[in-house]
Amino acid sequence: MAPLVPSSQPWVEKYRPRQVKDVAHQEEVVRVLTNTLETANCPHMLFYGPPGTGKTTTALAIAHQLFGPELYRSRVLELNASDDRGINVVRTKIKNFAGVQVSISAARQGYPCPPFKIIILDEADSMTEDAQNALRRTMETHSKVTRFFFICNYISRIIEPLASRCAKFRFKSLSEEVMSSRILHICKEEDLNLDQEALSTLSSISQGDLRRAITYLQSAARLFGSSISAKDLISVSGVIPQDVVQALFAACKTGEFDLANKEVNNVIAEGYPVSQMLSQLFDIVINSDDISDEKKARICKRMGETDKCLIDGADEYLQLMDVASHTMRALCNMPQELQF
Ligand SMILES: Nc1ncnc2c1ncn2[C@@H]1O[C@H](COP(=O)(O)OP(=O)(O)O)[C@@H](O)[C@H]1O
Ligand SMILES: [Mg+2]
Repeated sequence: MAPLVPSSQPWVEKYRPRQVKDVAHQEEVVRVLTNTLETANCPHMLFYGPPGTGKTTTALAIAHQLFGPELYRSRVLELNASDDRGINVVRTKIKNFAGVQVSISAARQGYPCPPFKIIILDEADSMTEDAQNALRRTMETHSKVTRFFFICNYISRIIEPLASRCAKFRFKSLSEEVMSSRILHICKEEDLNLDQEALSTLSSISQGDLRRAITYLQSAARLFGSSISAKDLISVSGVIPQDVVQALFAACKTGEFDLANKEVNNVIAEGYPVSQMLSQLFDIVINSDDISDEKKARICKRMGETDKCLIDGADEYLQLMDVASHTMRALCNMPQELQF
């Protein structure tokens, strides 16, 4: 029999909490917003923090709970990074929506329907500074009838005049317990079998990002059926097998260029993404008890520079080779700068 809900629906959407109270681990913002539901009062908001921690979920939930399905479309404007939010849109679409008056007697049964509209600017850190500046006036002029919800990963990318007008909430990276309990809930609903090892592997490869965890779980379920092992999860996650990372690190320790070069070539030939390799190598370096802090610092500084080069489009082989040789020089007490 065909399932009622198409199986292609992303679980990230299917299992998004619909109510603020179901957002886990972010007690402070949940408390403040629960209060908002009672008093129908709320300031401008700024949610920031790492991906997959419930920011978008929380903003959508409060908007739905305040207005209900009937008024939602007329009272809430949602814009995310895929919408154009350049300065022109700020001057037209956002300004027009912000300026619309709302009728106070609009209250619908069961919903507080406060006398303002909400504009949700998701991924606001990708807005240009000019666009953000253009928002300042709109925010001030229409503050009686409009509340802004800014959502971003990095609060430093929101200009101070906007940030200072908002109540700020930092979303914490989710703990392993919270991740596991949400994952187990989904497993139960979807009839999946995950053993203890698979569960803890899923939490650790997702690093506090529940969206990633849910996406890996769904991909694994699609590929491997209802019994999913730790290995299955690693293979869909794009994490590089630990022995490959260890082999490169061990080669650097020997101080022999040819050995390191061979491992680097191997990584590139296998098609592993170098940025992923860097992040796993980084973990090994940081957690090694037998490397001095100074050496760790030297290696990590280089990794940071390399990461930036990769983002800017530098060659993967050369960048990994560069990190490998710096790591080698640091670990084997060779001079850091080459003598010409
Ligand atoms: N704190 C949380 N409590 C419950 N579910 C969460 C939480 N954080 C993330 N999720 C789940 O992860 C997915 C992505 O969450 P989202 O709110 O879009 O993250 P972001 O912080 O990147 O906006 C959602 O489907 C949601 O089910
Ligand atoms: Mg989001």
